[in-house]
Amino acid sequence: LWIVDKSETKHESYPQLVEASMLLKQGEVVAFPTETVYGLGADATSDQAVDKIFSAKGRPSDNPLIVHIAEQSQLDDFIEEVPDHALRLMEAFWPGPLTIILKKKEGLSDKVTAGLSTVGVRMPDHPIALALIKEANLPIAAPSANLSGKPSPTTAQHVIQDLDGRVSGIVDGGATGVGVESTVVDCTTEIPVIFRPGGVTREQLESVVGEVLVDPALLKEGEAPKSPGMKYTHYAPDAPLLIVDGSKEFLQKKINEYQQSGKKVGVLTTDENKAYYQADQIICCGKREDLATVAHDLYHVLRSFNEYDVDTILSESFPVEGVGQAIMNRLIKAAGHHVISE
Ligand code: TXA
Ligand code: MG
Repeated sequence: LWIVDKSETKHESYPQLVEASMLLKQGEVVAFPTETVYGLGADATSDQAVDKIFSAKGRPSDNPLIVHIAEQSQLDDFIEEVPDHALRLMEAFWPGPLTIILKKKEGLSDKVTAGLSTVGVRMPDHPIALALIKEANLPIAAPSANLSGKPSPTTAQHVIQDLDGRVSGIVDGGATGVGVESTVVDCTTEIPVIFRPGGVTREQLESVVGEVLVDPALLKEGEAPKSPGMKYTHYAPDAPLLIVDGSKEFLQKKINEYQQSGKKVGVLTTDENKAYYQADQIICCGKREDLATVAHDLYHVLRSFNEYDVDTILSESFPVEGVGQAIMNRLIKAAGHHVISE
């Protein structure tokens, strides 16, 4: 475990990262912070290194990994040609929470892409991640640094909970900023398609490249998603989670019903509403008025329910606009699509 204060230097090198980058060069796996969630990194050019990511996470091998770079010129090593709309998105949002899917060429381990002809690439907006990638001088494959199925880690503590003893090192750079994963956008078609909503919103993408589509499977249950990862249950706390779409009064009525049937009920609410409810455990997830704060706290809050003795978790619902798209996408997955509407 290396503890690094990200304010120490700006995009230069951190002496604490030399050992971590050496391990990456030697084909080991190292967890590190990004602006979205912690990633579990390995040399994207090495089959053996990439295998270690899948086994540490218990991740299905048909789910491709995102490749992280620190400089755009690294793309030349494994991307055939970057289309014009992708270049404009990179210019607008990199470094940042946007993963762009492009056609790959030779240069990466096939295990990174799970046999697909495309690869997702992103440049994280985090000085420690960028410094580590530069120091290792490699493209770094990195999924979120959680056990498969658990909420993504937003602190080094979460990584330790899930992966202690399963990885060669963890760089602790404090809590991440955005709190939900990057937006995944497919740029192999003329009109880009969002495969996973995230830190960059559809509206922001459209302001740069015009029309952007959304994979229909994200909107409807039952359709096969284009992004393999979106088909798995995910982000789930131990107790069953249900999303309540309705008024505070309706949610309180549901709490009462569950309690009457003998269940201990946890509630995921927001600053504005927390005083209203009576339940066994009430946990506040940011401010409704500022959805970025809800995204920032979401995974920490989902994990924290495991520390309390609750049988059922009822969550408030959020508006599906801006980063609310990513919040509701993750909540609905965590709830296994269980939504109770008023
Ligand atoms: O913010 C993030 O994106 C974080 C940090 C660590 O960078 N990473 C992350 O990786 O969330 P992961 O592996 O947990 O999620 C990657 C998602 C999965 O849903 C995967 O199926 C999809 O991206 N994906 C990756 N490559 C793809 C490809 N070539 N085609 C379609 N989907 C792809
Ligand atoms: Mg993940």
